[in-house]
Amino acid sequence: MTEVERNQGSRPSRLGSALLLLSALCLGSVLAAASLSRDDYGMLVCAAALTALTVAALLRPVPSPLKAQPSERDETAPADDLLAAAPDPVVVVDRRAVVTESNVAAQAIVPGLRSRQPLAFALRAPQVLDAIRQTFRSGEGRDVEFGGLSAADPVYQVRLRLLGAPGSEGETLALFFRDLSAERRLESMRVDFIATVSHELRTPLASLAGFIDTLKGPARNDPAARERFLDIMRGQANRMARLVDDLLQLSRVELKAHVAPVTPIDLGPLVHHMIEVMAPLARERGVEIALAFDDGPLEVLGDRDELLRVVENLVENALKYGSSGGRIEIGLHRSEDGRVFELTIRDHGPGIAPEHLPRVTERFYRVDVAESRTQGGTGLGLAIVKHIVGRHRGRLAIESEPGEGATARVQLPVGPGTAARI
Ligand SMILES: Nc1ncnc2c1ncn2[C@@H]1O[C@H](COP(=O)(O)OP(=O)(O)O)[C@@H](O)[C@H]1O
Ligand SMILES: [Mg+2]
Repeated sequence: MTEVERNQGSRPSRLGSALLLLSALCLGSVLAAASLSRDDYGMLVCAAALTALTVAALLRPVPSPLKAQPSERDETAPADDLLAAAPDPVVVVDRRAVVTESNVAAQAIVPGLRSRQPLAFALRAPQVLDAIRQTFRSGEGRDVEFGGLSAADPVYQVRLRLLGAPGSEGETLALFFRDLSAERRLESMRVDFIATVSHELRTPLASLAGFIDTLKGPARNDPAARERFLDIMRGQANRMARLVDDLLQLSRVELKAHVAPVTPIDLGPLVHHMIEVMAPLARERGVEIALAFDDGPLEVLGDRDELLRVVENLVENALKYGSSGGRIEIGLHRSEDGRVFELTIRDHGPGIAPEHLPRVTERFYRVDVAESRTQGGTGLGLAIVKHIVGRHRGRLAIESEPGEGATARVQLPVGPGTAARI
């Protein structure tokens, strides 16, 4: 609302003022007539004028010392509320780049932002201040970015849009801020991910290409070398296939992340089945598997294939990285409050150093890359497990005392079937 409009007031107040003026004129002339003639007719008109004066006074809005006048509140409040409620930061400046309005979100990201002070006092972003000057000069809105000077420094996009009559003194400029940090982080993660995948695939591919050349050239007539090289090539091809399988698995789980699984699954037989599948590997590594399961059905709402992948990855890690302990313990228990089932897989190998623990569930993170490769690892196992457990509304924790082994702990919410029986 402009100053002129504000001063005009609302319709009832203008009507009241007109009546007041009319009544005052009427009263003045009537009193004059009455004083001259002193007849009854004059007194009657005088009383009528006084009544009109009272009605006019009642119609006139009474300004409250505490509240804004209703006429002002009615028209400005929605705009003010809108600015205050806007989740993104908004700042309005005049032609001198002095702040005229700002919301709480803007004050949170630009500390020291004050009305009636130049924006430059609070915001040290020359590109934004330049853009303000250029926008007023050209009359064209524009977008600029600032921040991102370090990894911890947020990046903002500022959209500058002119408000009010173009070129007028009262013309102002609204600055809408949008935090781009999360978007940028995701983008850089995507680029890193593609770079890592390409690298992981290129290494075995380069090795395969090298052996093909050797077999076609120097080793062409050497049957012993050919056998050896073909075995290595088979190993490299397997590695690529594992990587592609794990990548596909990961993307499938990510796609379904927001769809909770609904099939009732008894965890006991499922874990038993996977242990049987892993028994040859345990024998090969000389590791004994000890089981401790609670009795009765241990039912969750789940996706059978995904839960099998969870058990497979965790048991495989314990057998491969913790084989020096010679024994792993697998437990499946109901929590004391009966709300979750807890699957624990504990090994007695070298464990994981505390600085690596928070990162082992990241994609491609390996404590010892060479060891993971010789064990046939892709670095994606725990990332897959974390996503599957997340989709099942559960929790995954990897714990370790270096030198004492590692424990993987998976908690899954008890399914409605079991919950009804408890
Ligand atoms: N039980 C364990 N003991 C020691 N280190 C482990 C264990 N489980 C996982 N790790 C470490 O965490 C890393 C990531 O595991 P994972 O995501 O399964 O990838 P991968 O097994 O394919 O390398 C492994 O490379 C290994 O360094
Ligand atoms: Mg693994």
